[in-house]
Amino acid sequence: MPTLIKNCRLHIKDKVYSKNILIKQGKISKITNKEPKAEKIMDAKNNFVLPGLIDCHVHFREPGLTHKEDFLTGSMAAAKGGITTVLDMPNTLPPTTTIAALEEKRRLAAKSIVNYGFHFGATNDNISDIKKAKNIAAVKLYMDYTTGDLKVSDFETINDIFKSSKITIIHAEDEHVKNAVEILAKSKTKNRIHFAHVSSEKELKYAKLNKIKKQVTVEVCPHHLLMNERDIQTLGAFAEMKPRLKTEQDQKVLWQGIKDGIVDVIASDHAPHLKEEKEKANYPFGVPGVETLLPLLLDAFNSNKISLPTIIKLCCENPANIFKIKNKGFLKEGYDADLVIVDLDKRQAVRNEDLLTKCKWSPFEGKILKGWPVTTIVNGNVVYDNGEIFDIKAKEVQYDR
Ligand code: DOR
Ligand code: ZN
Repeated sequence: MPTLIKNCRLHIKDKVYSKNILIKQGKISKITNKEPKAEKIMDAKNNFVLPGLIDCHVHFREPGLTHKEDFLTGSMAAAKGGITTVLDMPNTLPPTTTIAALEEKRRLAAKSIVNYGFHFGATNDNISDIKKAKNIAAVKLYMDYTTGDLKVSDFETINDIFKSSKITIIHAEDEHVKNAVEILAKSKTKNRIHFAHVSSEKELKYAKLNKIKKQVTVEVCPHHLLMNERDIQTLGAFAEMKPRLKTEQDQKVLWQGIKDGIVDVIASDHAPHLKEEKEKANYPFGVPGVETLLPLLLDAFNSNKISLPTIIKLCCENPANIFKIKNKGFLKEGYDADLVIVDLDKRQAVRNEDLLTKCKWSPFEGKILKGWPVTTIVNGNVVYDNGEIFDIKAKEVQYDR
């Protein structure tokens, strides 16, 4: 059933246009000034329409930790946040470090209402599985301790992992960023590495050492951009994640990195834990984020901290290019109809009771944000519209490799 979305404001190559978008069979069929015939007509009311966001760093907790989140609740929260594709991390139970675990996760993810892909976990001894894993976004390497038990410390093993995987996403903190860049340089491989959640001036400086060769990409997260260590005093465990919140100076440097084009991606690192878990003495690390990623960035746009083309580049185009995701990340004829309509003037507070994530809290609760997604379309289907969710199943993404 062809759908026409009328009155869309679009950024195409940094220019703003007013266009109509025709969707046929889940794809963008025409971006046009004309009004082609369609069975269903929607009106974007001159709001901006962006490519749906690709959040390349989420923890949807399935299997094994579904009291915190699952692919349905996580994807509903993502859809509400204007995210149309997520790439899920491997620190589940069991971890996604074997072919059997990957296949099981694939089966479970079919309930997702946003498109999805998987990162495969590296261990001290699973190189043969890494080589066999099919249709994965990247291999995730933990050089530091986090939720789960996936730390790899031996530099020889890390070298082997870099050589065996076209792209390795690294959780590296502090000096470990430098170590990873050095191991990559010595390995002489052409494969790439992507630093997840870079949180400090020092980490950004180390990651930058190798930027020239385009072999290293850098991701930052909203919590490291918009919160700092002082928030731990007020929020306690609810502001504790890995890497930890840093200083105001570090925040400034991360924002500058966005302006200077050193930061390639903004991702949520959506890491939900229940309130009861956070209230315990040995609380787990992590904060939820898929519902607030885009609203926080639109609010930052409204305070002149970031431009819309930069949001589109860092949250749609670059993730598609870095992970070589087919047919996504751009508003282009022939691409998948994954879109989000945003109301840049809508003011609303982040409220725990509104959240669709199972954990039902946000470190940004109470913050009034200006700029919210209003309608999210995945594969041509409306899955979120003004507070309402539509449970239409999405698809696993494919890669151009
Ligand atoms: O804070 C974090 N939480 N950092 C991580 O690296 C893992 C994540 C989680 O899975 O809870
Ligand atoms: Zn993470």
